[in-house]
Amino acid sequence: MTTNDGLRLLDPALYAQGGPPHELFTELRKQPVSKWEIQDVEPFWAITRHADLRAISTRPDQFLSGPGITLAPANRQEIPGFSQMRVVINMDPPEHRKVRKVASPWFTPRALARIDAAVEESARSLVDALAANASGEADLATEVAIKHPLRILATALGVPREQEAKILELSNRLFAPDDEEIGGGNQPEDFAQLAQEFLELFLPIIQDRRAHPTDDLASVLANGQIDGGPMGPMETLGYYLIVFNAGHDTTKNALAGGLRALVERPDQFEKLRRDPSLVPSAVEEILRWTSPVNYMKRTASRDVEVAGTTIPEGDALVLFYASANRDESVFEDPFTFDIERKPNPHVAFGHGEHFCMGAHFARRSMAAILNELVRRVDAWELAGDPEWIQASFVVGLKHVPVRYRMAA
Ligand code: HEM
Repeated sequence: MTTNDGLRLLDPALYAQGGPPHELFTELRKQPVSKWEIQDVEPFWAITRHADLRAISTRPDQFLSGPGITLAPANRQEIPGFSQMRVVINMDPPEHRKVRKVASPWFTPRALARIDAAVEESARSLVDALAANASGEADLATEVAIKHPLRILATALGVPREQEAKILELSNRLFAPDDEEIGGGNQPEDFAQLAQEFLELFLPIIQDRRAHPTDDLASVLANGQIDGGPMGPMETLGYYLIVFNAGHDTTKNALAGGLRALVERPDQFEKLRRDPSLVPSAVEEILRWTSPVNYMKRTASRDVEVAGTTIPEGDALVLFYASANRDESVFEDPFTFDIERKPNPHVAFGHGEHFCMGAHFARRSMAAILNELVRRVDAWELAGDPEWIQASFVVGLKHVPVRYRMAA
């Protein structure tokens, strides 16, 4: 089946109205893969089932990331600046594994213990700010979810505190270029300007860490070696970019959506308050529920079969994590938010070759916020309608207004 109505799956304006099109995903999971078209964008096969997504993600020789991980305009233009950056998420074996190894040791659970203090301090200070009033109103997206990963990542990457607002602005312009409130335009010149600003921000840090290495992530990236030689400048810069941006936008959207889910479900929040040992399992359910990375693209390296359909060489496949995480053949009652869900084999962090390098980092960051909130918030409710970001790649909420009362 080919349908030219691909905007139903990916139009940012549609996501701004209510998030991912779950009803359509549910319909699509009943049939084998389907092909879609959007005017001026390359046609693509929609992969909506958990099993197909996992199978494709473990065959990087047949399903390439190198040609790009987001859908491209049909008449693709090189974007000055970004096109020259070499990014791990955009590489295929064998190069991919070598580049991944530069930073992956820094992200193991054991190595991450070195950031625990910074993570806890960030969570505490953000909830302290809420607790400055015994009760009141707050926007959990802008006052908690956005600030927390921003602060931790900025610390790990050596970005000075006074530059945090700048880096938030750059991240929004990259991931939500169409959003009138937080984006900065989606034309090639907008992206070229953005690349230049990232360069100006990160280059002095890279130079500093080369001269004065420490044990932070900034130093690991600045001094990364591949095949016994230093990484090239575009690889180094690309690494900064992917770690910062992949880490910030995703974690903040998971937190904003997860907090909303808890605010709207007092029974789940109460359960968590009574038994904080459920925090790790609540984090997993939040990841499944929010699926901040809505999709990733792959390109068939040859004619290859997926669920009985032959995908011709060169065709694009879009892996919809948001859909796979609601797959009724894997998750019981997939549209129920259940902090005790077990097992919870969600694919919010992807699967296989490119499995998220920052998964433990994100889990720790999210758990720290939940630990503070369940200890200190007595009750909360929505104080207005949450608002979605106008974006369909990394997706989530930009405003979650609440009325809250802190515990005595
Ligand atoms: C809730 C938070 C997060 C979500 C949902 C998420 C999701 C993902 C997904 C789905 C992929 C797989 C891409 C693919 O298969 O093509 C990925 C890869 C990646 N993520 Fe995350 N991520 C999160 C947080 C982070 C954080 C905190 C960092 C770093 C600080 C990070 C760094 C990366 C990197 C470097 C890759 C590329 C890995 C590779 O290509 O081998 N992510 N992430």
